[in-house]
Amino acid sequence: MIVSEIISEIRHKRWEDKSASWGLVPTMGSLHEGHLSLVRQAREENNRVAASIFVNPIQFNRKNDYDSYPTNLASDLELLEREGVDLVWTPQKSLVYPEIFQTYIDVTQLSKVLEGAARPGHFQGVTTIVAILFNVFQPTRAYFGQKDAQQEAVIRRMVEDLHFNIEIRSCPTVREKDGLAMSSRNANLTKKARAAAPVLFRALNLAKVAIEKGEISSKNIYQLLKNEIEKSECAQIDYISIADQKTLNEIKIIAGNVLISLAVFWDEVRLIDNIRISNK
Ligand code: PAF
Repeated sequence: MIVSEIISEIRHKRWEDKSASWGLVPTMGSLHEGHLSLVRQAREENNRVAASIFVNPIQFNRKNDYDSYPTNLASDLELLEREGVDLVWTPQKSLVYPEIFQTYIDVTQLSKVLEGAARPGHFQGVTTIVAILFNVFQPTRAYFGQKDAQQEAVIRRMVEDLHFNIEIRSCPTVREKDGLAMSSRNANLTKKARAAAPVLFRALNLAKVAIEKGEISSKNIYQLLKNEIEKSECAQIDYISIADQKTLNEIKIIAGNVLISLAVFWDEVRLIDNIRISNK
């Protein structure tokens, strides 16, 4: 496995064999099974696999969140090597964002709702770094987790609008045994919050069951989710959304392809989760 901070070295390895297909797994490090499932999927679908490890400062809108983001480069590299990754880019912040840096990518509508409304500037940071990664690696395919459903939608929009010749692949959310979606931020939960946090997936499943039984009112589903989550006294709901999966516009009647997503604070730690529902 080649690990380098230097763009020319990454490009050299990338283009060594021009006929090889490459899967790219962009990460911010602190890797868990969720990331590894993306790597495995990339391994299955490509001749070579690349990853990036870079905690992207411009996608954090709260300094505290950036400062407390867990990092563990040595064990991340060990995990990637074990998974048979061929190439890893671990750039310095000053290389990616030199002082003179002034080019940002903004997906103007999709990135302003939900996570974008709660975290202004977040998706501009994500699309800017992902475009940089796409240009450095020029992968055949790039892999993202469905836990970040809006991120996937925003990146797909950018790829289509800017004609990146890259296939976007998304992989199912990987969960702990108790249903909590795997996230690097889980490590920052207090013991009490960690014990309570599986309520998010439980609530989403209750919503799913209610819809399967015929509930079509978003208002009722919203209330069901809110009641369930508020049973846990340390949860602070940031938002609950019931939206069209593609446009991310809120819907009143649950029909078609629906994304139910939520963000909840546990003290300073903000967790997101979602489920996709097809209600024909
Ligand atoms: O999903 C993430 O970990 C990040 O948003 C990404 C795509 C690596 C960009 O920094």
